[in-house]
Amino acid sequence: MRRDSVGLPVPGPLPVASLARGDVSWAQDMARFQIPSGYSRIHIVTSFEELVATPLVAGTNALCWPRELPGDFGEVVKALGPGAGIEDLDDARIAKLKLSAAGRRAAELLLEDQRRLRDLHLDPVLNAIHEYRRDEGPGPVSTDVFSFHVDSAPVETDTWLCSYFGAPTEGLRNDQARRHVDLPKTRAALLERFGGEDAGEFSEYLREHHFDLHYAAEPNAEPFSFGLGNLWRVAVQWPGCPVPAFIHRAPAMVPGQPPRLLLIS
Ligand SMILES: [Fe+2]
Repeated sequence: MRRDSVGLPVPGPLPVASLARGDVSWAQDMARFQIPSGYSRIHIVTSFEELVATPLVAGTNALCWPRELPGDFGEVVKALGPGAGIEDLDDARIAKLKLSAAGRRAAELLLEDQRRLRDLHLDPVLNAIHEYRRDEGPGPVSTDVFSFHVDSAPVETDTWLCSYFGAPTEGLRNDQARRHVDLPKTRAALLERFGGEDAGEFSEYLREHHFDLHYAAEPNAEPFSFGLGNLWRVAVQWPGCPVPAFIHRAPAMVPGQPPRLLLIS
């Protein structure tokens, strides 16, 4: 069981102010993915087969298969109708939607991606995300999906992701991030909350509350978008994982906007 509950060109260095979670225009403007300049941990592949077969080793902690998908995913979202929270969309519901040819093409792609992952004995979920639960009263470290984090699992696994509609998932270079628990002020605040010594039990406390999975962007950081339609496979933190886990977050949600369509496994 994972401990986690939970893309357009980046136009040059991102102003620090844009890192604030309230700035949604940046996320909305991003629809394509470009590898961050001078960054070697993300590898581009040209087929599904290559995405599956390429190991996450030797520093590479993310694989991206860029795609420009045909079809009208917005029509699918419209046909789904109103909803709330995070909806799991089963195949039967997608197959039964009344759609034009363009909407049907999009629906078929949604089903096809899941079939491909199931053929790998994975367990993909297609979500319509109207809103995520926010970390209420997070204290020194927010641990919701809007915070940069790595996924974690007790056994070897990877996270597969595709944003089809709405604001895409966002990534952060490992060399532009620091764990919140390694920031002296934050660590001190967490230690005060814990009420003990900075020793083994404190480490366990940080782990139990997922504080150790969350990251702060460096002041000069340039978060990037996963892009729409691209299928990603990214490294998860598991015992023995040979590469640093991939840091990512959910984009800010815009009240009143249609839900995101996201595939995750
Ligand atoms: Fe995640």
